[in-house]
Amino acid sequence: MKKGTVFVCQNCGFRSPKWLGRCSQCGQWNTMVEELEEEFAGEVLESGGEPVLYQDIKETTNQRIPVGIDQFNNVLGGGLVLGSVVLIGGEPGIGKSTLLLQVSRDLASEDRPVLYVSGEESLEQIKLRGDRLGLSREKVYLLAETALEKILNAADRMKPRALVIDSVQTIFSSQLTSSPGTISQVREVTNRVFRLAKRNQIPVFLIGHITKEGSLAGPKSLEHMVDVVLLFEGERDHHHRVLRVLKNRFGPVSELAIFEMGQSGLKPIDNPSAFFLRERPKNEPGSVVISTIKGSRPLLVEIQALVSSTLFSGNPRRMSIGLDHYRVSMLLALVEKKVGYSFAGEDIYLNVAGGLEVDEPAADLGVVLSVISSIKNLPLPREMAVFGEVGLSGEIRSVSQPLARVKEARSLGFETVLMPAGNLPQLQGEDLKGIRCLGLDSVRRALAQVF
Ligand SMILES: Nc1ncnc2c1ncn2[C@@H]1O[C@H](COP(=O)(O)OP(=O)(O)OP(=O)(O)O)[C@@H](O)[C@H]1O
Ligand SMILES: [Mg+2]
Ligand SMILES: [Zn+2]
Repeated sequence: MKKGTVFVCQNCGFRSPKWLGRCSQCGQWNTMVEELEEEFAGEVLESGGEPVLYQDIKETTNQRIPVGIDQFNNVLGGGLVLGSVVLIGGEPGIGKSTLLLQVSRDLASEDRPVLYVSGEESLEQIKLRGDRLGLSREKVYLLAETALEKILNAADRMKPRALVIDSVQTIFSSQLTSSPGTISQVREVTNRVFRLAKRNQIPVFLIGHITKEGSLAGPKSLEHMVDVVLLFEGERDHHHRVLRVLKNRFGPVSELAIFEMGQSGLKPIDNPSAFFLRERPKNEPGSVVISTIKGSRPLLVEIQALVSSTLFSGNPRRMSIGLDHYRVSMLLALVEKKVGYSFAGEDIYLNVAGGLEVDEPAADLGVVLSVISSIKNLPLPREMAVFGEVGLSGEIRSVSQPLARVKEARSLGFETVLMPAGNLPQLQGEDLKGIRCLGLDSVRRALAQVF
């Protein structure tokens, strides 16, 4: 080992004098990277360390500015808070730069420009993207730079309406000797940017790369340092993208926005349910529409099941995409035991159409019905949506937000909802004209009702 170096876990920041295959703090493998030992200067306190009496603290309201896209505003909790630092993580190529260039375009005004700093693309490359997004005369300044001190200087001089840094892993401070992207650098950059944001009341977007297999110099380690953490996700072969909140010091963490990636950039999807159901086959065995809650909003999605005899003798296959494997296994066992089907010798495939993930128990009833619909080769009645948790005795248990789920189904033209009987009282007195709510307490009764 060279003198003056230390091994730092790029996932959690754990420091060790010797190399470890597995971090002893967070347990991740192969995350230890050799970095030069930094002199730790310690934090300089800016306000004298004098305690202030609670009632003497002046009131400040968190001033918010709209970012242009309504759905994005919702995700932020009602707009962008001045002086806040927002970290947006996402896998390579998902559309982070696109989203933030669009936001820059919308935020820039005549007297307050936006500063977009890129440490990974040339000005020409960004302009090419901008052309695609229809940028022209907006006051968006671009800076291709990786030196933190120069970026801070530029921002200090310009006092932009917002600052975008694309990406935090490419920027480095000359005060540290470790290379860009290492956890020390990423933290230093975030820390200094954070102070700039607070000092000048400039909102800052930090883009962070994350990879599927956990992350190198993971933005994970930055989550506690910033005000808001957003995750931009999508499936490679689908055009939609989901923006979710992981942390928000100024708003709820339940919101989410759905976008469609296209030629002219990201377009917010106003009616996600209609979007996810648009290619749904009608009267197809194995297809069931469930009313699920994503973030704080209801969403209708289609669950598809395919049950077919296992070719060759061997282990039957069980595959599910977009659903929790353990939950699916549990539900299949329950159907065998309580309803009396045998899945020995059957392959079972389950899929949430559109590449979405559904991770709430309220999807249980939909999973059960789709599997049985496929076995029987019988479709569900037309225009029926379902929701409900299924317990181990085959009982249907109530779930949260029944009213929102029913209303969403009605607004998409569904005529019947199959739902937990226990949720019916919550619908009493509500105007639910145009939709029939069938409350059921067991899977057996549900099957009798449906088939
Ligand atoms: N002409 C186009 N039409 C439709 N979609 C496009 C077009 N050009 C690019 N895209 C989409 O934009 C995505 C790349 O967007 P962007 O560069 O913003 O992603 P990123 O997350 O910043 O990627 P990186 O990790 O490389 O920084 C592509 O994966 C593709 O889906
Ligand atoms: Mg990018
Ligand atoms: Zn670690």
